[in-house]
Amino acid sequence: MSLPNRLTPLYHHLRHSFWSAGIETADLDARIIIRYHTQLDWGDLITNPDAKISPSKLARIEFDVERRLSGEPVSRIYNTREFWGLDFQLCPDTLDPRPDTETLVEIALDRLAGKPPERILDMGVGTGCILISLLNDWERAEGYGMDKSFGAIRMATSNAQRLGVADRCHLWVGSWGEALGLTFPLIVSNPPYIPVAAIESLSREVRNHDPILALAGGPDGLDAFRSILTEMKRLLDREGLAFLEIGYDQRDDVLRLVEESGFRVKDVHPDLAGVPRVVEISHGDN
Ligand SMILES: C[S@@+](CC[C@H](N)C(=O)[O-])C[C@H]1O[C@@H](n2cnc3c(N)ncnc32)[C@H](O)[C@@H]1O
Repeated sequence: MSLPNRLTPLYHHLRHSFWSAGIETADLDARIIIRYHTQLDWGDLITNPDAKISPSKLARIEFDVERRLSGEPVSRIYNTREFWGLDFQLCPDTLDPRPDTETLVEIALDRLAGKPPERILDMGVGTGCILISLLNDWERAEGYGMDKSFGAIRMATSNAQRLGVADRCHLWVGSWGEALGLTFPLIVSNPPYIPVAAIESLSREVRNHDPILALAGGPDGLDAFRSILTEMKRLLDREGLAFLEIGYDQRDDVLRLVEESGFRVKDVHPDLAGVPRVVEISHGDN
């Protein structure tokens, strides 16, 4: 591949290559790769379109373009993802945080705006994107996050340190809420919810780069919800609220499980595309 050595032609070339390869985020990916290696930003495309790119930088850009064309997301190439305005680091043991999950953060912050919780539990914390974002907004809250993956807990610990909330963020390896003695006014979770048989049909970006432990929700995609709802009976304060992220077609199934578990569904919140995405749950007394 021979790449143009001026900014704007290079940008058009990468964007076209990604579009031709069927990459939906072609424009954004082209910009991120160029910015990573040149520090030239969006504005430079207009104010400095002929900026020259050195041969050594072009060689590094070319290497990353090949990786992207072979199906590796840019967030995996650079091990970083912006979520709720914060930069989270990723590793092969963590899910790449999704924009849809910002809906959960937004709704929790909104619903508890008048009375921020003292403690938050995040089951399946991954990179820590949900828990750390909430701690960043609620400066007095203590966060508790657990994950079955040791690598995810190591990554969340490092993110909590880098983003300045480590002194209020308690992280440990475990399965859902087991062995936890506290109760919580707020529980959040984005559990693995893909039915095992559907994993093969996911895009190669997801299938080949997100860890299976973060995706697979058992034969019907609902295993984690069953476990979490069982643990929540013990862990959710009588007056507490829980917010669970669900898959695009799981609304009815999850609502049935919530009610069978003796909880009340307070609301189902859509994501930006209008898809039911977050179920708000209480014990039913509030
Ligand atoms: C869909 S990912 C969500 C990660 C992160 N909260 C986010 O929103 O990006 C689900 C997480 O649950 C974790 N997990 C899977 N099974 C678990 C279990 N039995 N106990 C605790 N965590 C589990 C996975 O390792 C993964 O980090």
